[in-house]
Amino acid sequence: MSKEIKQTEGIVCFEMNQIGVIRTPYADNAPYQPVKEEEGDFRIVVEPQYAEGLHKLAGFHYIYVIYYIHHVKGDQSMIVSPPWADGVQVGVFASRSPDRPNHIGLSIVRIKHIINNEILTSGLDAFDGTPVLDIKPYIKDLDVKSDANYGWIKEIEGHEHLLLHIKGIPHKY
Ligand SMILES: C[S@@+](CC[C@H](N)C(=O)[O-])C[C@H]1O[C@@H](n2cnc3c(N)ncnc32)[C@H](O)[C@@H]1O
Repeated sequence: MSKEIKQTEGIVCFEMNQIGVIRTPYADNAPYQPVKEEEGDFRIVVEPQYAEGLHKLAGFHYIYVIYYIHHVKGDQSMIVSPPWADGVQVGVFASRSPDRPNHIGLSIVRIKHIINNEILTSGLDAFDGTPVLDIKPYIKDLDVKSDANYGWIKEIEGHEHLLLHIKGIPHKY
Protein backbone atom coordinates (compact mmCIF):
# COMPACT_ATOMS: atom_id res chain seq x y z
CA MET A 1 0.00 0.00 0.00
CA SER A 2 1.39 3.44 -0.88
CA LYS A 3 1.25 6.26 1.60
CA GLU A 4 1.80 9.97 1.48
CA ILE A 5 4.84 10.78 3.57
CA LYS A 6 5.20 14.55 3.28
CA GLN A 7 3.90 17.61 1.50
CA THR A 8 6.04 20.68 0.78
CA GLU A 9 4.57 23.68 -1.04
CA GLY A 10 1.84 21.56 -2.59
CA ILE A 11 4.20 18.83 -3.84
CA VAL A 12 3.35 15.49 -2.31
CA CYS A 13 6.04 12.89 -1.75
CA PHE A 14 4.90 9.26 -1.75
CA GLU A 15 6.32 6.04 -0.52
CA MET A 16 5.47 2.93 -2.57
CA ASN A 17 6.02 -0.75 -2.07
CA GLN A 18 7.57 -2.96 -4.69
CA ILE A 19 5.00 -5.61 -5.69
CA GLY A 20 7.42 -7.83 -7.56
CA VAL A 21 10.59 -8.04 -9.59
CA ILE A 22 11.39 -8.23 -13.30
CA ARG A 23 13.62 -11.10 -14.38
CA THR A 24 15.38 -10.71 -17.73
CA PRO A 25 18.66 -11.86 -19.32
CA TYR A 26 19.90 -8.22 -19.22
CA ALA A 27 22.37 -7.46 -16.41
CA ASP A 28 23.11 -3.87 -17.44
CA ASN A 29 22.28 -3.48 -21.13
CA ALA A 30 18.70 -3.71 -22.41
CA PRO A 31 16.86 -2.75 -25.63
CA TYR A 32 15.29 0.73 -25.81
CA GLN A 33 11.82 -0.76 -25.93
CA PRO A 34 10.46 -4.31 -25.51
CA VAL A 35 11.34 -6.63 -28.39
CA LYS A 36 8.31 -8.85 -28.79
CA GLU A 37 10.07 -11.78 -30.45
CA GLU A 38 13.17 -11.63 -28.22
CA GLU A 39 14.29 -15.08 -27.10
CA GLY A 40 15.13 -15.73 -23.48
CA ASP A 41 13.51 -15.96 -20.10
CA PHE A 42 11.40 -12.89 -19.29
CA ARG A 43 9.19 -12.99 -16.25
CA ILE A 44 7.63 -10.95 -13.51
CA VAL A 45 7.82 -12.54 -10.11
CA VAL A 46 5.06 -11.13 -7.91
CA GLU A 47 5.58 -11.04 -4.16
CA PRO A 48 3.44 -13.82 -2.60
CA GLN A 49 1.27 -11.37 -0.64
CA TYR A 50 0.10 -9.81 -3.95
CA ALA A 51 -0.31 -13.06 -5.92
CA GLU A 52 -4.09 -13.17 -5.44
CA GLY A 53 -4.19 -9.91 -7.42
CA LEU A 54 -3.32 -11.93 -10.55
CA HIS A 55 -6.74 -13.63 -10.49
CA LYS A 56 -8.25 -13.52 -14.03
CA LEU A 57 -5.25 -11.66 -15.49
CA ALA A 58 -4.37 -14.70 -17.63
CA GLY A 59 -7.40 -14.00 -19.83
CA PHE A 60 -5.68 -10.92 -21.30
CA HIS A 61 -3.08 -11.10 -24.05
CA TYR A 62 -1.11 -8.01 -23.00
CA ILE A 63 -0.25 -6.16 -19.81
CA TYR A 64 1.21 -2.82 -18.84
CA VAL A 65 4.20 -3.33 -16.57
CA ILE A 66 5.01 -0.26 -14.47
CA TYR A 67 8.36 -0.32 -12.75
CA TYR A 68 11.02 1.66 -10.95
CA ILE A 69 14.07 2.14 -13.19
CA HIS A 70 16.31 1.74 -10.21
CA HIS A 71 19.83 2.05 -11.67
CA VAL A 72 19.49 5.31 -13.58
CA LYS A 73 22.80 7.18 -13.33
CA GLY A 74 22.38 10.31 -15.48
CA ASP A 75 22.01 13.88 -14.25
CA GLN A 76 18.37 14.86 -14.19
CA SER A 77 17.52 17.32 -16.96
CA MET A 78 14.24 18.52 -18.44
CA ILE A 79 15.82 18.28 -21.91
CA VAL A 80 17.02 14.90 -23.16
CA SER A 81 18.45 13.52 -26.36
CA PRO A 82 17.55 9.87 -26.85
CA PRO A 83 20.66 7.90 -27.97
CA TRP A 84 18.99 6.84 -31.22
CA ALA A 85 17.55 10.29 -32.10
CA ASP A 86 20.45 11.76 -34.07
CA GLY A 87 21.10 14.58 -31.57
CA VAL A 88 17.52 15.86 -31.48
CA GLN A 89 16.72 17.44 -28.09
CA VAL A 90 13.24 17.15 -26.61
CA GLY A 91 11.56 17.68 -23.26
CA VAL A 92 11.83 14.68 -20.97
CA PHE A 93 8.03 14.33 -21.00
CA ALA A 94 8.13 14.10 -24.82
CA SER A 95 10.48 11.14 -24.47
CA ARG A 96 10.67 7.62 -23.09
CA SER A 97 14.01 8.35 -21.43
CA PRO A 98 14.63 6.42 -18.20
CA ASP A 99 16.31 9.55 -16.82
CA ARG A 100 13.21 11.45 -15.67
CA PRO A 101 12.06 13.16 -12.44
CA ASN A 102 10.42 9.96 -11.22
CA HIS A 103 12.20 6.93 -12.63
CA ILE A 104 9.00 5.26 -13.77
CA GLY A 105 9.20 2.75 -16.64
CA LEU A 106 6.24 1.52 -18.67
CA SER A 107 6.34 -1.51 -20.95
CA ILE A 108 3.57 -3.36 -22.75
CA VAL A 109 4.31 -7.07 -23.05
CA ARG A 110 2.46 -10.21 -24.04
CA ILE A 111 1.51 -12.74 -21.39
CA LYS A 112 2.78 -16.23 -22.27
CA HIS A 113 1.76 -18.06 -19.09
CA ILE A 114 0.92 -17.30 -15.52
CA ILE A 115 2.15 -19.94 -13.11
CA ASN A 116 1.36 -19.26 -9.47
CA ASN A 117 2.96 -15.86 -8.72
CA GLU A 118 5.02 -15.68 -11.92
CA ILE A 119 4.02 -14.07 -15.22
CA LEU A 120 6.09 -15.34 -18.14
CA THR A 121 6.16 -12.64 -20.79
CA SER A 122 7.47 -11.64 -24.19
CA GLY A 123 10.64 -9.51 -24.21
CA LEU A 124 11.00 -6.76 -21.63
CA ASP A 125 13.36 -3.79 -21.82
CA ALA A 126 14.39 -3.65 -18.16
CA PHE A 127 17.47 -4.88 -16.34
CA ASP A 128 17.25 -8.07 -14.34
CA GLY A 129 16.13 -7.22 -10.79
CA THR A 130 14.12 -4.10 -11.70
CA PRO A 131 11.42 -3.53 -9.03
CA VAL A 132 7.81 -3.71 -10.25
CA LEU A 133 5.34 -1.10 -8.99
CA ASP A 134 2.16 -2.22 -10.76
CA ILE A 135 0.64 -4.44 -13.44
CA LYS A 136 -2.50 -3.58 -15.42
CA PRO A 137 -4.34 -5.32 -18.26
CA TYR A 138 -4.03 -3.81 -21.74
CA ILE A 139 -7.61 -3.72 -22.95
CA LYS A 140 -8.79 -3.77 -26.55
CA ASP A 141 -10.53 -0.57 -27.72
CA LEU A 142 -9.94 1.08 -24.34
CA ASP A 143 -6.16 1.21 -24.84
CA VAL A 144 -5.64 0.89 -28.60
CA LYS A 145 -5.64 4.35 -30.18
CA SER A 146 -6.02 4.05 -33.94
CA ASP A 147 -5.07 7.72 -34.51
CA ALA A 148 -1.79 7.54 -32.55
CA ASN A 149 1.15 9.16 -34.36
CA TYR A 150 4.95 9.56 -34.16
CA GLY A 151 5.14 13.16 -32.91
CA TRP A 152 8.69 14.62 -33.28
CA ILE A 153 10.09 11.21 -34.23
CA LYS A 154 8.62 11.68 -37.69
CA GLU A 155 10.92 14.71 -38.20
CA ILE A 156 14.04 12.52 -37.99
CA GLU A 157 15.37 11.52 -41.39
CA GLY A 158 14.93 7.78 -41.89
CA HIS A 159 12.63 7.46 -38.88
CA GLU A 160 10.85 4.44 -40.35
CA HIS A 161 14.13 2.56 -40.51
CA LEU A 162 15.02 3.79 -37.01
CA LEU A 163 11.78 2.45 -35.62
CA LEU A 164 12.61 -1.02 -36.95
CA HIS A 165 15.80 -0.91 -34.85
CA ILE A 166 14.02 0.41 -31.76
CA LYS A 167 11.38 -2.30 -32.02
CA GLY A 168 14.01 -4.97 -32.77
CA ILE A 169 12.33 -5.94 -36.04
CA PRO A 170 14.76 -7.84 -38.33
CA HIS A 171 15.18 -6.19 -41.74
CA LYS A 172 17.54 -6.39 -44.70
CA TYR A 173 18.43 -2.75 -45.38
C1 LIG B 1 14.38 3.89 -22.95
S1 LIG B 1 13.92 3.08 -21.45
C2 LIG B 1 12.25 2.68 -21.81
C3 LIG B 1 11.59 2.01 -20.65
C4 LIG B 1 10.08 1.83 -20.84
N1 LIG B 1 9.77 0.96 -21.96
C5 LIG B 1 9.40 3.15 -20.99
O1 LIG B 1 9.10 3.56 -22.12
O2 LIG B 1 9.13 3.78 -19.97
C6 LIG B 1 14.70 1.52 -21.62
C7 LIG B 1 16.16 1.64 -21.22
O3 LIG B 1 16.22 1.83 -19.82
C8 LIG B 1 17.41 1.27 -19.31
N2 LIG B 1 17.05 0.47 -18.14
C9 LIG B 1 16.27 -0.61 -18.10
N3 LIG B 1 16.12 -1.06 -16.84
C10 LIG B 1 16.87 -0.23 -16.07
C11 LIG B 1 17.12 -0.16 -14.67
N4 LIG B 1 16.58 -1.02 -13.81
N5 LIG B 1 17.93 0.83 -14.22
C12 LIG B 1 18.48 1.72 -15.08
N6 LIG B 1 18.27 1.72 -16.42
C13 LIG B 1 17.46 0.75 -16.90
C14 LIG B 1 18.04 0.43 -20.42
O4 LIG B 1 19.17 1.13 -20.89
C15 LIG B 1 16.97 0.38 -21.51
O5 LIG B 1 17.54 0.44 -22.79
